[in-house]
Amino acid sequence: MEIQWHESLATGVDKIDDQHKEIIARINTLINMDMENMDSEEMEHELQKVLRFLGGYVIDHFNAEEEIMTRYHYPEYDEHKKEHLTFLKNFATLKRMFEKEGTTSLMITATQNQAVDWLVKHIKNIDQKMAAFLKSKMQP
Ligand code: FEO
Repeated sequence: MEIQWHESLATGVDKIDDQHKEIIARINTLINMDMENMDSEEMEHELQKVLRFLGGYVIDHFNAEEEIMTRYHYPEYDEHKKEHLTFLKNFATLKRMFEKEGTTSLMITATQNQAVDWLVKHIKNIDQKMAAFLKSKMQP
């Protein structure tokens, strides 16, 4: 199911919010992929795009959050960073699977379950805890 950006997801840090909006937009592209009407070449192309995005943009995003958490001495930094590392580990497994097996419907489902669902949950829960803390620190 598509995820919609909503103000309730805002962290109060423009850079982080813009990155979350971009991640959500890409996730929705994958969710809305019409696999029934795509040939294997199109599927491979789309999946490659998503994996490239996750392997680049999402990692930069994690670094940006970690830098802000460090700057504001976020007390739950270690737990949050551990979550990011979990994603990276799962992502490395997905990439290996893709390199070995190519685009299969199992691969697309695994990407949706392991990467996309994880990211949505993370943005809605773990990032929101961080956002509440940052908002309290940034109030004038
Ligand atoms: Fe927005 Fe903690 O990743």
